Amino acid sequence: MTDPIGTYETLEGIRDRVVALCGEVCGKRVLDVGCGDGLVGRALLPGVGPAGSVVFADLDEEALDRLAAELEGYPNAEFVRADARSLEAIPDGSVQAVIIRAVLLYIPEKPVALAAAYRKLAPAGRLVISEPVNRFLYDQPDWLWGYDLRAIPRIAERMRSGFLEHDSPEVRAMTDWTDQDLFMMVVDAGFRDVRMETVTEGLAPRPMPWLAFLHARWTPWMPTIAQVMRATLSVSEQAAFEATIRPLVEQGRQRSRLSNTFLTANR
Ligand SMILES: C[S@@+](CC[C@H](N)C(=O)[O-])C[C@H]1O[C@@H](n2cnc3c(N)ncnc32)[C@H](O)[C@@H]1O
Repeated sequence: MTDPIGTYETLEGIRDRVVALCGEVCGKRVLDVGCGDGLVGRALLPGVGPAGSVVFADLDEEALDRLAAELEGYPNAEFVRADARSLEAIPDGSVQAVIIRAVLLYIPEKPVALAAAYRKLAPAGRLVISEPVNRFLYDQPDWLWGYDLRAIPRIAERMRSGFLEHDSPEVRAMTDWTDQDLFMMVVDAGFRDVRMETVTEGLAPRPMPWLAFLHARWTPWMPTIAQVMRATLSVSEQAAFEATIRPLVEQGRQRSRLSNTFLTANR
């Protein structure tokens, strides 16, 4: 039976949902902000048709060049190097839809990026956002990648503080907001008809080798667990930490969740 809520664990699931939320795009100029390898914009190319176009915009020039080479045969694909916070190279009021998928989470100045999206849209233009929501990662007793550390609360708190000490603006941009915060940022940017739905899914247990766990980085800007452990815990605390969490890691006994929010609004 198909789950009526759908699954957004896979990129294809997210892409299809975002494309559906764009509505009718035939003949429209659609801006894919932070397009990356073009997950969403590519899927919109057939829909916009010869009278419309997809503007692929990203800060990453290499990614744009790769995409431009791959999409050479599409006359309705445009490629623009642009920072989501200004979108300077794109004339104001020149697009009928703006898509932002998994980009705002990298940007500390989210309201600035939303203001730029607003300016680029023509009147009544549509905004579609989908972002992973990570706030809960730090809020629960299973904050450390879904492993329950309630048996060692003091050590867990020391590790948590250790991670927070290493927080950079980039990490905070990914974790210090909820979907409700994002909703209000979109309202405050001047958009109307704002609607949002957040889907949270439990992920299948994933057993992990201990060393892989110790040396994994959740994002490139975060230290590894081994680094925080050595910097934060005494030798005996490290042993207690390992005794508690290692069996959970190796047996995949975690409560992993994934939340994705989907938001639409009109200018
Ligand atoms: C996780 S990828 C998402 C790519 C694509 N939107 C997708 O749905 O697969 C994040 C993209 O955002 C881009 N990005 C990050 N910060 C940006 C900024 N300030 N302006 C424009 N693009 C940015 C990165 O270069 C990267 O291509």
